[in-house]
Amino acid sequence: LRTILMGPPGAGKGTQAPKIKEEFCVCHLATGDMLREQVEKKTPLGVAAKKIMDAGGLVSDDIMVNMIKEQLENNKECKNGFVLDGFPRTVPQAQKLDGMLAERKEKLDSVVQLLIDDQLLISRITGRLVHPASGRSYHKIFNPPKKPGVDDITGEKLIQRSDDNAETLARRLKTYHTQTGPVAEYYKAKGLWHGVDASQSPAVVWDNLRSIFTTKK
Ligand code: AP5
Ligand code: ZN
Repeated sequence: LRTILMGPPGAGKGTQAPKIKEEFCVCHLATGDMLREQVEKKTPLGVAAKKIMDAGGLVSDDIMVNMIKEQLENNKECKNGFVLDGFPRTVPQAQKLDGMLAERKEKLDSVVQLLIDDQLLISRITGRLVHPASGRSYHKIFNPPKKPGVDDITGEKLIQRSDDNAETLARRLKTYHTQTGPVAEYYKAKGLWHGVDASQSPAVVWDNLRSIFTTKK
C-alpha cells in the first residue's frame, strides 16, 4: 500500500495513520513528527523549524522533500509501502514526490483527504496531549489516556504541542487552505483522490479508510 493521508490540523491524520501502518505493514512517515524530533534535539534545522511551526507556516519544500527521500531509501519498514502524514503539503512537494516514485518505479495507490469543518478543530487541538517519543496522541475528553497525563504504553509524561493554541491554529488552517488545498486538486486530476468524513468517531473514520484501501489495493 502506498498512500497519502491529507487533512487539516486536528483532522485525525496522526490518529489513523498508525492503524494503517499496523494493518498493512507499511511505514508511517509523519513530517511534523520528524521536525519535532529535530526541535527536541535542538539541531540547527530544529531551531529554525520551531519558529516556523509556532507561527503556523511551512518549512521549505527542499528540506521536507529530502527528509522523505531519506526515509524511503533507508527505512526498512517502507519496503511494503508507506502512509505519508503531513506530506506533500504544497504542489511542488507533490511534484517532487512523483519524480521520486517514478525513479523507484513505484506508484501511489490512493490519496485520502480527511474532510472536516474548521470550527470542529479548535476543541480537538486545544484538548490534545501527545507522547513526544512515539508521536502517539490522546485527547483530554475524546480519547483520554488510561492514567491522566501519562502515555498508556510507556507510562511517560504527555505534553501539549507548542503550536496547539487558538492563535496558531488559525494560522495553520489558513496555510492549509491556501497551500495544501491545491494539492487535493492535483491528485483529483490524477484520479487518485478519495474524501472521508473526519467529523465522525475514530472507529467510523477507520472503517471508511480501510474500505478504501481494501477495494483499491
Ligand atoms: P503536523 O505535525 O503535520 O501538524 P498538522 O498538519 O497541523 O496536523 P496535526 O498533527 O495537528 O493533526 P492530526 O490530523 O495529526 O490530528 P490528530 O490525529 O493528532 O505539522 C506541524 C507543522 O510542521 C506544520 O504546521 C508545519 O509548520 C510543519 N510541517 C510539517 N510537515 C510539513 C511539510 N510537508 N512541509 C512544510 N512544513 C511542514 O488528532 C487531533 C486531536 O483530535 C487528538 O487529540 C485526537 O485524539 C483527537 N481526535 C482525532 N480523531 C478524532 C475523532 N474522530 N473524533 C474526536 N477526536 C478525535
Ligand atoms: Zn499529526
